[in-house]
Amino acid sequence: MSLNVVVIGTGYVGLTTGVVLAFLGNKVTCVDVDREKLARLRRGETPIHEPYLPELQALAAPNLEYTDDYHQAIPTADVIFIAVGTPPLADGNPNLQYLEAAARSIGENLGDKPVVIVNKSTLPIGSGNWVDAIIRDFAGGGDKEVYVASNPEFLREGSALQDALYPDRIVVGSEDPKALRTLEMLYLPLVEQHFDAPDFLPRPAGLGPTPFVATDLASAELIKYAANAFLSVKISFINEIAALSEKVGADITQIARGIGLDARIGSRGLQAGIGWGGSCFGKDTAALLATALDYRLHMPIVKAARDINDLQRERVIEKLLGELKILKGKTIGLLGIAFKPNTDDIRDAPALVIARRLKEYGARVLLHDPVAMPNAQRLHPDLGQYQCCAAEVFSGADAVVLVTEWAEYNDLPFETLVAKMRRPIIVDGRNALSPETLIKAGYRYLGMGRSF
Ligand code: NAD
Ligand code: UGA
Repeated sequence: MSLNVVVIGTGYVGLTTGVVLAFLGNKVTCVDVDREKLARLRRGETPIHEPYLPELQALAAPNLEYTDDYHQAIPTADVIFIAVGTPPLADGNPNLQYLEAAARSIGENLGDKPVVIVNKSTLPIGSGNWVDAIIRDFAGGGDKEVYVASNPEFLREGSALQDALYPDRIVVGSEDPKALRTLEMLYLPLVEQHFDAPDFLPRPAGLGPTPFVATDLASAELIKYAANAFLSVKISFINEIAALSEKVGADITQIARGIGLDARIGSRGLQAGIGWGGSCFGKDTAALLATALDYRLHMPIVKAARDINDLQRERVIEKLLGELKILKGKTIGLLGIAFKPNTDDIRDAPALVIARRLKEYGARVLLHDPVAMPNAQRLHPDLGQYQCCAAEVFSGADAVVLVTEWAEYNDLPFETLVAKMRRPIIVDGRNALSPETLIKAGYRYLGMGRSF
């Protein structure tokens, strides 16, 4: 069954949601306030770098529309997803101004038919009730049939389409059975996995039905924060063990394998390195702490995960200081700017902190990223000297740091690049390169949490 779906906000989450729901046969209108983005989308372009998004967007194109006109989109909608940004404020709470504006515009333009409003943005506990109140206020009172639900998103950037088509679970929270039923119907193709998988994103072998987790509103809202906090804690835990591993001469990659094979621990999210970045772990752990404080609760585990994460960036600087002693006047090349591979997203990217710290020490910073460089140059023109190709960050460098583990960096001609460097030092911030190959090629190799 096909529904009229509106998705508000065409960022990493909104665009993925819109494209996937359109691919599954729904009529989808994507609403954004960014006209430049909309113009690109209408031309069939994809404004973000996300693997397979252009291909799926093209397949779903007959079911997709893009507009900045709420009045055109809202009155005929069966389901409206809100997927606007919720960036952090200085006190840790998310900035809800975009959510408020979206809720207001929905209220002002509501038609007479029943509609399910879905919070897909990551929002503090109570946001479902708040959105419901705003919409009703701006709809001019009356008994509008508005049913609010929370449907947190768990996709990862760089594998957003894979995660959205083949999710581990779908969580929907609402106080209203009608909202739960509508969303269960909308998600049925994903729950039962009965859609024809696109050739470029085949269904993983042996994939069964997707668990559909129906909860109350507050539980769904808290599930999202708990999931991101847990993932952050897991990474910070392996980084804490990595610090000890390095001291005692052990190898954190072997330790991660040794503990990860215990099914209760699991091997994913145990990659030690320079710590987590991106738009969500930092923002969501800060928001969780801020919410806890509202209830006079402390969350020392989540707080510690954040503190450890801050230290990881500093460990790179310590390694460079240990090798070079003085950073002033030295040239350091950074391979990778995006917060992780396969995305152009540089929000809270470790490279930003590391480059700034190096500059504070008086070092000259050379930067490269295969995809995120235009974003970085636009938003941080003074971060360092942007290089046209990865090989150039080795030119005259006293050290090169692998910051983002783009697969293509593994294929660099390290044997010849060594001659371009002033000192052949490589800090592998992600333990992604081959120490044996690099050492053989004449480099001094330093990993994270290993005795190299
Ligand atoms: P984003 O910044 O990429 O996109 C937000 C979009 O909303 C922008 O295009 C912006 O122009 C638009 N917008 C702002 N105000 C609007 C309004 N009033 N009406 C219409 N459009 C408006 O954000 P994102 O990364 O997609 O994140 C969105 C939400 O999803 C956040 O709450 C985030 O925490 C959550 N989330 C993100 C991810 C991720 O991987 N990025 C994953 C899960 C959850
Ligand atoms: C994360 C969650 O994994 C998603 O489930 C969630 O939907 C999303 O946040 C969100 O709420 O925005 P994402 O930030 O896109 O997704 O990417 P991850 O793959 O989780 O990586 C986050 C950061 O942790 C990256 O900087 C990555 O390099 C780092 N990381 C990840 C590690 O340092 N070690 C690991 O083992 C895994």
